[in-house]
Amino acid sequence: MKKWSASRAPAGRVAYVNGRYLPHAQAGVHIEDRALQLGDGIYEVFNIMGGQPLDEEGHIDRMERSLRELGMPMPIGRAALKLVVQEMIARNRMPDGFLYLQVTRGAVKRDHVPPPDGPRPTLIMTMRLQDVAGLKRRLEKGIAVSTQPDIRWGRRDIKTVQLLPNLMAKQAAKLAGAFEAWLVDDEGYVTEGSSTNAWIVDKDGTIITRDLSNTILSGVTRRVMLQAAAEAQLKVVERKFTVAEAKAAREAFISSATGAAVPVVAIDGQAVGDGVPGPVTQRIRDLYAAHPAHKNG
Ligand code: PDD
Repeated sequence: MKKWSASRAPAGRVAYVNGRYLPHAQAGVHIEDRALQLGDGIYEVFNIMGGQPLDEEGHIDRMERSLRELGMPMPIGRAALKLVVQEMIARNRMPDGFLYLQVTRGAVKRDHVPPPDGPRPTLIMTMRLQDVAGLKRRLEKGIAVSTQPDIRWGRRDIKTVQLLPNLMAKQAAKLAGAFEAWLVDDEGYVTEGSSTNAWIVDKDGTIITRDLSNTILSGVTRRVMLQAAAEAQLKVVERKFTVAEAKAAREAFISSATGAAVPVVAIDGQAVGDGVPGPVTQRIRDLYAAHPAHKNG
């Protein structure tokens, strides 16, 4: 494994588009691309640390699943995909950053019906630096979340690029002074964050996160955290929880590839527990960071 120095890493300069590595500013897709015309595409976000993608297998598994659910083929094989990821990290000289991958159904004359055979899917990748200082601040102080109605579609298990409801919720949360939105279904249960999974720790120390279904995205970080917590014999339950339960919780946190476990210290302006990051969230962060599945996929 190559050793990298984070200090010499510039911002993302190289993008990948269908087999070509291009200067970021010159990279583009066809104007008839179905992601642009119809939102017909899926994506993944990889956290790159020390020159290696974290949870790589989990992200590629989910990518394959999203594509399968939409009847799209993998644009290239798994081994080739991993090589492109490595090449992107090297060419961008970005050992610590985020890699964004998108697959669209490709460019073809606009029609709602997906063409039965083809076109060739579009595969694009870009990279960018992490906001290290911002994350450090969020970990130290915790974040506030604002609850927002979950107005998304019925297949939230597919990681589609159609993110309008997510960004509208996040925008509303930001206006309310919060960092993330917690989306709430019609029955008052939290589904997940706008780009994160949602967790609480109850008064007995039980860690609770919503069970998997088409109401949430199956977070790769969530899965590794559940596995790590079970192995450490922490009490974990996968079930839905209400906003009222969350407000009465001892701790709360969000999970995603972009921040692992980040403490939530306020919900709709009301302090969670003592209103400071809690020990169970820190434990989950530590267990996740040390877990082998996290490094090897
Ligand atoms: N978001 N739920 C939603 C709706 C998400 O968009 C994400 C990821 C997650 C967490 O998944 P994971 O642990 O695999 O990152 C849950 C990415 C980071 C994004 O949109 O930037």
